[in-house]
Amino acid sequence: MTAILPHGGTLVQRVVQGEEREALLKQAGTFQAIRVNAWTISDLDLIGVGAFSPLQGFLNEQDYNAVVSSMRLSDGTVWSIPITLAVNEETAAKLEVGRKAALVGEEDGVIYGVIDVESIYQVDQKLEAVQVFKTDDPEHPGVKKLFERPSTYVGGPIQVLNRPQPERFREFYFDPSETRKAFRDKGWNTVVGFQTRNPVHRAHEYIQKSAMEIVDALFLNPLVGETKSDDVPADVRMKSYLTLLKHYYPEDRTFLGVFPAAMRYAGPREAIFHAMVRKNYGCTHFIVGRDHAGVGDYYGTYEAQEIFKNFTAEELGITPLFFEHSFFCKTCGNMASSKTCPHPKEDHLTLSGTKVRGLLRDGVCPPPEFTRPEVAQVLIEGMKERVSV
Ligand code: ADX
Repeated sequence: MTAILPHGGTLVQRVVQGEEREALLKQAGTFQAIRVNAWTISDLDLIGVGAFSPLQGFLNEQDYNAVVSSMRLSDGTVWSIPITLAVNEETAAKLEVGRKAALVGEEDGVIYGVIDVESIYQVDQKLEAVQVFKTDDPEHPGVKKLFERPSTYVGGPIQVLNRPQPERFREFYFDPSETRKAFRDKGWNTVVGFQTRNPVHRAHEYIQKSAMEIVDALFLNPLVGETKSDDVPADVRMKSYLTLLKHYYPEDRTFLGVFPAAMRYAGPREAIFHAMVRKNYGCTHFIVGRDHAGVGDYYGTYEAQEIFKNFTAEELGITPLFFEHSFFCKTCGNMASSKTCPHPKEDHLTLSGTKVRGLLRDGVCPPPEFTRPEVAQVLIEGMKERVSV
């Protein structure tokens, strides 16, 4: 049985159902509305189902300041990424502390939830950028997103009234309570979580399987929320994961479920966040490889591993498994890292993401030592279907 506790000790549950939901929905129609985009709806839902435990809502001012400055909530609990609700000035002027507001989808008008307004506050987004992303360069995709939002935030506990409905791969959406139950039912005591926003190439496979040698099972948990436009789209990736699992992974030791969150590209801080979330899904271990959640050259290769030193094992409550940059070594004739391979760089097969995407777009399979041919085929097909990719 998976005995791992959720972050903060209790799995948060703020999805309202039945008569209580009906009543609150009716009332919510009379509340001041805050228009929310897909990103915020995904944060709302993930708070609601406890994936972001111990958060009960969007950060209030006190917690926001604590998270930005010290990677902790104001009560000291480790939390590295500010989960916030930004509102424009016009809406902010109509809100009142102590009242509820309705969170309404900007595209579909659906009332996704309500918030108990606890604080309305102005933030210094440059400071947030430098603290969270280690840069205020507007070219950084996470910083760019941050600067596009208004700088007035609203904090307070939320309740979810309607859940976002996935268009595809619905059967791979699991709430933390469901993954926890599934792991328990399968008798897995130790489960390693794997975050990815990419197709699984041989290097990813290698570190997953190295981890699988020491735990009961792998939770392959690809992020399928908003990513930058040149990342491979989630539906194409999903097909590629299914193909890979079918051909190369033991069915009774792997579990595929999506993580419907937006990618922040915050490197080290996001690695901590990713680990805490996977703990909430019931993982006991979490893989952090090279440049985890990084983008461009903003972070050092192993910064996302080093950041874990700031916290005690007890505070983290999940065991990070660190892996060095992995590659196929032609002389070793296998996958390796600098920890296991004595040969020079020239013997190593490494391809940049840009190079691989270029090959796939041209309908060319990367070498099988880099990407499994079955996976490459799916990616090539997927790319063909999307003129924009
Ligand atoms: S991420 O933004 O989700 O981190 P990606 O999907 O590429 O990007 O990586 C998923 C995980 O695999 C991360 O922990 C990352 O550090 C790790 N990783 C990716 N490529 C390699 C590699 N060649 N060697 C070691 N670890 C890697």
